[in-house]
Formats: sequence, C-alpha cells, structure tokens
Amino acid sequence: MENLETILQQALQEFSGISHAAELEHAKARFLGKGGLITELLKSLGKLPPEQRPAAGNRINEVKQAVEDALIARRAALRAREMDDELQQEALDVTLPGRGMQQGGLHPVSLTLQRVENLFRTIGFTTATGPEIETEFFNFTALNIPENHPARAMHDTFYVDDTHILRTHTSPVQIHHMLKNAPPLRIIAPGRVYRCDFDVTHTPMFHQVEGLWVDRNVNFAALKDVLATFMQLFFERDDLAFRFRPSFFPFTEPSAEMDIACFNCAGSGCRVCGNSGWLEVLGCGMVHPNVLMHVQIDPEEFLGFAFGLGVERLAMLRYGVPDLRLFFENDMRFLKQFN
Ligand code: DAH
Repeated sequence: MENLETILQQALQEFSGISHAAELEHAKARFLGKGGLITELLKSLGKLPPEQRPAAGNRINEVKQAVEDALIARRAALRAREMDDELQQEALDVTLPGRGMQQGGLHPVSLTLQRVENLFRTIGFTTATGPEIETEFFNFTALNIPENHPARAMHDTFYVDDTHILRTHTSPVQIHHMLKNAPPLRIIAPGRVYRCDFDVTHTPMFHQVEGLWVDRNVNFAALKDVLATFMQLFFERDDLAFRFRPSFFPFTEPSAEMDIACFNCAGSGCRVCGNSGWLEVLGCGMVHPNVLMHVQIDPEEFLGFAFGLGVERLAMLRYGVPDLRLFFENDMRFLKQFN
C-alpha cells in the first residue's frame, strides 16, 4: 500500500512524457492491464486483514480512477496534436493563383476529316460509310482485283480469319454503295483503313477518303475539275499548280495520280518533296467497266470517276508535320498546337 502513491506519480509522469499514441497504450497496459501494477494490487487485497480491506480497496480504486483519467486526458491531447499536424501539412493556400482550365480540342486527323467532308459537301457529295472488317470480295474481287492478282500481295493485308480481313482501303465502300443505290451517285467515304506496315511514312492504321461520282456523262474533265477545286479550297491557294500523272489501279481505267506543286520550295525541289518539286496527294481514275458490272450497273449507260486520298498525308502537308507517327503518339505538346 505504500507503493500506491509512487505508482500514481509514476503513471502521471510517464503519461505526460509520451508523444505517440501506441506508446501510451503500452504504458496503460503496464498500470491497468491484466498483469498491471494496479491490477496486481487489487488482486492482493485478499491478503490484508478483513478490517483493512474496504479502506485499502477504496484507495486503490481512487488511484485507478486517477490513472484512467490521466490516460484519457493524454489520449485526447495526443489526438489533438496529431490533428494539428495533419491540418498543418494539408494546409491549402486559397490565395495562390489557379492552374487554369485545360481546353480540349479536336485531333488534327479529325480536323482534316471534317475539312475534307465539308468541302466535298459544298460541291454536292454526301457521306457514305462501310464496315472496317471486310470480305475479300468487297476489298478485292469486286474492285477488279481477282484472286492471285499481284495487287493483293501489295496491300499488306491483316487477316481476321479465312474469309475476313481488315479493309486495306476505303474503295470497298464504293461497292457497298453501288449495290444499295442506283446511279446517279455522288459520295465520299471517309474512314479507317489497315495495313501491316510501320515506318516513318506508314502506320498500321490510317485514314482515307474515297470519292465516287457515277452518272450518264461523267468524264475525266469532271474528275480533274472536282479534284483541282477541292485541292485549291483545301490548301487555300487559288494558284495551286497541279498535274495528273498516268498510273495504274485495277479498279480504274485510265488511272492517274494527282500531284500538287510543293509549297515548301514552290517546285524547285527540297526535302519535303524529295527534290521532285511535286507532292503526290491522291490516286484516281475512271471506274473500270468490270467494277460497274460487278454491281449490276451497265457501263454502256453509266460512267464514273473515283479517287482515294490519304487523310494523314493531307494533314501533314497542311500543317507541316514531318513524321506520320506523331499523329498516333498522343503527345500533348503536339496535340495542343491544333486547339
Ligand atoms: N484505293 C487506293 C489505295 O488505297 C486509292 C485509290 C486510287 C482509290 C484510285 C480510288 C482510285 O478510288 O480511283 O491506294
């Protein structure tokens, strides 16, 4: 019983020196726990002569209460200090300037697609679409590229299964559209196309816009007029020089590729145009009679012209982008410039 006062003083002193909650619980166990100093004293009450027990018991309970009170007070103090620390660390200075809102914008390929669609709409073309997973019939056969034709190998085709492929160009949309609609027809077909190819100028997915005009007296002069007008509007140059170079596509006859004068060097030759002075911008031609026959259009009655252009290519030329892959890396520093 002489120990009692010492124990109380010891507890009060110890609690006040503790600065961590876990340590405080340890200390509590030493005084009030199962084998704690005060608990032991209570247990030893039975050894006292019966007449001393009530007084001693009262005193022990008083001390126990005092220790418990001190513990609760210390707990509260520690918790308050923790809160203060937390608040200090998470302090928010509402007077700091804000970071501003980030304004999103369309991807340069989307901007270019919209621009191409809008310009063709003004000259009477409507927009058609077709599936990206195609059969070989639509992607090749109906376009006058029969099985074993070397052009099939040139397309670096992705096969989905034995009979389905990812379309390698937007030309199959011509076939879908002509099967569902009777001429006269005047459409463009923008969309994604896929080829198993990857370097500075090729990505496995890119975008094309197909064009098709079928009517009774459509001719090569109309093709030339439509495409020249489009290019002048697209690049915002009335004096844009262009040329048509003879070429070959199985689905057109005759076929041509359209070049525009390099606007980096104005035709004198530079890195952009590979020293030729010209930039190739699209493939085109008069729809091959075999293609019309595949879709039950009489080539004696109707003629058509078609063209296919690469959207990324036009975007690179219009915005001066040097590497095709920049369009697909999603680097914000690149994309922000088109907002
Ligand atoms: N489909 C061709 C390609 O991907 C582009 C093309 C050329 C489309 C001539 C046409 C065309 O409609 O007449 O390379």
